[in-house]
Amino acid sequence: MYISRDIVDKIYQSLDIVEVVSDYVNLQKSGKDYKACCPFHNERTPSFFVSPAKGIFKCFGCGKGGDAVTFVMEIEGISYGEALRQLAQKYKIEIPESDNKKPSDDDIQKQNEIDALYIAMQFAKNFYYEQLLYTDEGKAIGLSYLKERGFNEQTIKTFELGYANSDWDTFYRTAIKKGYNPEILEKAGLVQKKETKNDYYDRFRERIMFPIHNISGKVIAFGARALKTHKDTPKYLNSPETALYHKSKVLYGLFQAKKSILQKDECLLVEGYADAISLHQAGISNVVASLGTSLTHEQVRLIRRFTHNVCILYDGDEAGLNAALRGVDILLEEGLSLKVVWLPQNEDPDSFLQKYGTNAMLTYIQENTQDFIKFKTKYLLKNAEDDPFKRGEAIRQVVSSIVKIPDIIQRNVFFKECSLLFGIEEDVLIREGNKILNKELKQKPDQEALSELLQNNPDDFLDQKANAFSSVYHQEYEAMRLLLCYADYPISQDTIFGQYLLKELQGLQFENPIFQEIFEIFARNLNEGRLLSHHDFMKMESREIRQAVIDLITEKYKLSPNWEEKAGIIVEKKDEKLNRVAYEAIMRMKWKAVQRMIKENQKKLEKANNEEEQDHFLQIHIQLKSIEQEIAKALGNVLR
Ligand code: GTP
Ligand code: MN
Repeated sequence: MYISRDIVDKIYQSLDIVEVVSDYVNLQKSGKDYKACCPFHNERTPSFFVSPAKGIFKCFGCGKGGDAVTFVMEIEGISYGEALRQLAQKYKIEIPESDNKKPSDDDIQKQNEIDALYIAMQFAKNFYYEQLLYTDEGKAIGLSYLKERGFNEQTIKTFELGYANSDWDTFYRTAIKKGYNPEILEKAGLVQKKETKNDYYDRFRERIMFPIHNISGKVIAFGARALKTHKDTPKYLNSPETALYHKSKVLYGLFQAKKSILQKDECLLVEGYADAISLHQAGISNVVASLGTSLTHEQVRLIRRFTHNVCILYDGDEAGLNAALRGVDILLEEGLSLKVVWLPQNEDPDSFLQKYGTNAMLTYIQENTQDFIKFKTKYLLKNAEDDPFKRGEAIRQVVSSIVKIPDIIQRNVFFKECSLLFGIEEDVLIREGNKILNKELKQKPDQEALSELLQNNPDDFLDQKANAFSSVYHQEYEAMRLLLCYADYPISQDTIFGQYLLKELQGLQFENPIFQEIFEIFARNLNEGRLLSHHDFMKMESREIRQAVIDLITEKYKLSPNWEEKAGIIVEKKDEKLNRVAYEAIMRMKWKAVQRMIKENQKKLEKANNEEEQDHFLQIHIQLKSIEQEIAKALGNVLR
């Protein structure tokens, strides 16, 4: 689990951020840097920058920024350690593993719970896979069922399918023998406790096992299909929510599909396990399954990392239609473009493929893909026929989908098209849209509505940000930024800026706890003769520290022109200005500190019980006031 400092350093030295980002994003050279449309939010013009010199990326649209490791974490949705591992693999750096062997009883106890759960799930996956391929029952029942459904060996391997046999506790007993902790197995949702005895039995029995992987390929849950359909057992039984598995944040098959989604710049969305697997086997591998529930924002954002184009492939029956009409506005809201393919009645992608084959499927998709909003309009219109009341409702429903589209230009295209389809003037539709928007805006909490407004009006947004910078945060931020960017800068013959700042800031407390932590680490190291730079901080374990440092140094690296004017923040390293700026930053912090002390002292003064106490606090007040004067003088009229 643990990656040594040396290895971490080696990974950082080997990686090239442009290479790393290019695996996911199409970068264009732009001067010394590279730019692209941001993979983390929806945009039409590129505001996502990569600086090879600094080893960082930054999006000036959504604010995300970081180094190569952070990038991999964000885009893959994985932890720091997992990202390091992935990069090590990319750059062929070997990480000495202590956990290659089967973990012993003792090891498992020592793992923290998450690690233990992952190990248990991996063990279970291998167990069910072996049951399927190498046991009599598995071969006779499980494997023959899968073969009958047309799944080949490669597919079984790719999706790591398995079989849970009909005994009550084969898995449980095997796991215990290998030293797995029953409580962990229970927390992983693999076994259940018996009601009467302190004993356990397997959750999954006599079922085909579909492992559900997270985005980096680790098994976090199972879907399990019954072989026969009884009335008293569900066709599919899934893992419960666990520390690893949050149903609303996972899409089935994404791990196997992500590369193909990126390459084809499209994601097919189907309902079932079998559908995703069948399509993949047929070479249509850019497919994920929603598993029969309606989509969540988290799931849509997972897709959006890889593409902005989604095509849903559903049953053409009433249920499929209704599911689509209800469940997919969320895709539009997140700025994705949405198409639909309706399969013939009572066919899902899997059954269609089995019946008609791959070529028929491809042709069918090609000939039957339609734009979702146009489809919705036609469908509702047809159902409304000549009933004016139904027509009105249909218009409102379509318009409510259109207004979910964040992109104004795209939105207007749809207004125009629907105006033609409905035979209604565009203005009327737009007015209807505004009504819906106003109503929704009123229903939303202020904060959300505001942030939405700001996102749509980037100029106002920048103003707001600039304002936020006039507070304590600004002063602390400036001091911190200077510390990280210019610590090694010589300000006199025998002092570097870091030492000077340290001395000046001694005893002052940063209000932002992360800044305080960074400052303490910096001070501790400098006192021991080590000068830390932002590179050192970016390698630290704490995600908060890394993020803060990244934000701080990227501000130095590039700011939009608006910022520069509005907030008066220096953008480039201007040697002649540094002393004054540093001095000011420190003075501002001291000024704030004095202000705070004055306020606190005043409170005490008000509460004073007798004249003696009053006098004492009054003396302090006078002293503080004179310090305040001094600082103000030193700063001239810079203070506001
Ligand atoms: P096959 O019959 O194996 O082809 O499955 P299917 O995917 O075609 O099944 P269906 O169309 O009935 O359901 C679509 C998806 O909904 C499934 O893949 C499951 O994810 C989910 N689902 C269906 N039935 C159940 C159930 O009984 N319980 C749960 N939890 N999910 C179900
Ligand atoms: Mn099916």
